[in-house]
Amino acid sequence: MASGQMSRDEALECTCCRHACHVLLYSETASQLFGRIPIRYIVLMQMRFDGLLGFPGGFVNPLEETLEEGLTRELLEELGVAVPVSKEDHVESCFSPPRSGTYSSSSRLILHFYVKKMEEEQIREIEKAAASTAADHGLEVLGMVRVPLYTTKSGGGLSCFLSHSFIGVARSQLMNSLLRLHLVSPGDLQEALRSSQRTHAESAQNLQAAFKLTGEQP
Ligand code: APR
Ligand code: MG
Repeated sequence: MASGQMSRDEALECTCCRHACHVLLYSETASQLFGRIPIRYIVLMQMRFDGLLGFPGGFVNPLEETLEEGLTRELLEELGVAVPVSKEDHVESCFSPPRSGTYSSSSRLILHFYVKKMEEEQIREIEKAAASTAADHGLEVLGMVRVPLYTTKSGGGLSCFLSHSFIGVARSQLMNSLLRLHLVSPGDLQEALRSSQRTHAESAQNLQAAFKLTGEQP
């Protein structure tokens, strides 16, 4: 077990901790972008209310519900569909890295991460419901997004996606899952990360230049 991680049962012994559960939902797909680039897999993430990318899920209260019941309740609010998640879908539990300025030992947050494979049709239903009937649509969830796993000729795709901003450890959770599930090869991920760092540097320059739009100098 990697450092900072704990088993699901160890995590539940911490009754003074807060607990949050999130899930990566994915399916295979035969669709092709532009009729020639295989999409291969649909991997769902969401644009959160805070402008960060993350996984669907949220706070659960283990005193009142099992982790999986709590996660399913959160999914109903965020996706409009009560996706049943079970103990078998659990991948890891770990302490959330403290955010600067907000750390409090009495309210440490334990993150429980799940992965669930579904049928493409089920994923499409979730996407529809998330944008129509989900209670949190437009509020805590600004929209569901698919993770592009491919790289286009111009270098777009996974590399650009990885250069966005993610909540907490969501980027690592995504990359670990892509490797563990063999959705992306280590070589392709390395290449995407290298390109992502270049994109990130360009974004920093763009942001610097954007100050001029406000009439301010950076
Ligand atoms: N890595 C680390 N922390 C994460 C991750 C992640 N991948 N995903 C979520 N979190 C943190 C969030 O910052 C939050 O503190 O876990 C906690 C619960 O996750 P949310 O999905 O944000 O919780 P949810 O119940 O859906 O929404 C409640 O309303 O009260 C506000 O700010 C509060 O984010 C919270 C939201
Ligand atoms: Mg949430």
